[in-house]
Amino acid sequence: MSEQVKLAMVGCGGIAGAHVTAYEKLIKAGYDKVNIVAVCDTNEKNAKAMAERLAESVGVRPNAYATVEEMLKAETLDGADICTPHAFHHTAAIPCLRKGVNVMVEKPVGITVRATKKMMKAAEKSGAMIAVAEQIRRCLGARAIEWAINEKNMMGTPRFFVMEVFSKTPYNWKEYRMAWRGVKLLGGGFQIFDGGVHFCDMMLHVFGPVEEVVCDMRCFDGPEVKAPVLGKARIDTEHSWLATLRFESGLVGHWNWSCQGYGHEVSNGVYYGDKGSFKDRQKWMHAFQFGADFKAKSGKETSYETIQQRYLKQLGKRKREQVFPYGFDDGITNECWDFVEAIAEGRAPEVDAAAGLRAKSLSIALYESATAGKPIKVADVESGKVRAYQRPIDEYWGI
Ligand SMILES: NC(=O)c1ccc[n+]([C@@H]2O[C@H](COP(=O)([O-])OP(=O)(O)OC[C@H]3O[C@@H](n4cnc5c(N)ncnc54)[C@H](O)[C@@H]3O)[C@@H](O)[C@H]2O)c1
Repeated sequence: MSEQVKLAMVGCGGIAGAHVTAYEKLIKAGYDKVNIVAVCDTNEKNAKAMAERLAESVGVRPNAYATVEEMLKAETLDGADICTPHAFHHTAAIPCLRKGVNVMVEKPVGITVRATKKMMKAAEKSGAMIAVAEQIRRCLGARAIEWAINEKNMMGTPRFFVMEVFSKTPYNWKEYRMAWRGVKLLGGGFQIFDGGVHFCDMMLHVFGPVEEVVCDMRCFDGPEVKAPVLGKARIDTEHSWLATLRFESGLVGHWNWSCQGYGHEVSNGVYYGDKGSFKDRQKWMHAFQFGADFKAKSGKETSYETIQQRYLKQLGKRKREQVFPYGFDDGITNECWDFVEAIAEGRAPEVDAAAGLRAKSLSIALYESATAGKPIKVADVESGKVRAYQRPIDEYWGI
């Protein structure tokens, strides 16, 4: 490896912009290990705009490419930050991994369990690493609440929770970024794979393995759209779901969502244990991103501000610099820094492919349960035994 980590941005749409903001913030703060030398997007306009932006912000214009294959032929890279639609995570990652290029892949890793395992196999073969761009658990709020639950045992033994968001959200399915999200063959699923994978990762990270899920799912009024690559297609991913998650520990949770909850809006996340409960501050499925307030069995309340203060105090200077590099306490800057550091130091990333696969398997278990009309063991999804929902996706893309 050269002195600096040579990176490529693959997929230069919405979230890639947020990743680039993170690299820019790090570089401006004096971090000198990263150099973005290439950008790649099948949409030439997006690739060029990203190259232009970087030329202005950090003074180095990356070379722009339309395909990963062209890029890999021309460049010597240490890493690729992959931010494509879900159907193109594995098609972008595998050629990189085969060439020994480390990748950070946006959640939810591969579009299916099989796609994810194919990526993992390619990494195993070449020795390259897969990091997962899972930012929520790295945010200050999430780190502090995970500490309060698992280190400080504030809520005692977790017993049950509810996380539900019902709203009327008029998505514009004609936009490129929505069309691929709404079509199963391209997105793999909709909101469970969007905000939902973050929730799955946090639940596993904080509360441990989920044994079984049962889920009911509906897609109301899916319109026809012009979908990327496929052409005419119908929006066929979930508009609503109602699910129960049964954890190995005995914890049970209800997780419900709809973008067609007309009239009354609901947004609620409360986690109960035998000593009290945490009420999530945020209004979405990014569990604990902005912290949570605690109320004990006795009625005594502890605000998130107090919990955050205690968490930071016990961290100590060295650990604090490690988990919030350069003082940045947002998850995306953290994950981008961690990816570059992992490459530079030859170490594992904080969130690796195995963690990504676990969150992926839990999220996809909801679709499998809705397809089968019965409870599904998450381990059977992770092993590949249950895949009726995923089979058409695997078959279509030859996975
Ligand atoms: N972590 C988060 O909070 C978060 C938020 C939003 C999106 N995401 C994830 O980021 C990824 C991208 O989402 P987005 O919102 O940026 O989508 P987007 O539609 O805004 O951007 C995707 C980009 O990828 C390009 N692209 C498509 N196929 C390609 C290919 N084969 N090779 C190279 N480029 C290709 C498109 O032209 C587009 O510019 C998804 O995995 C999504 O789940 C994560």
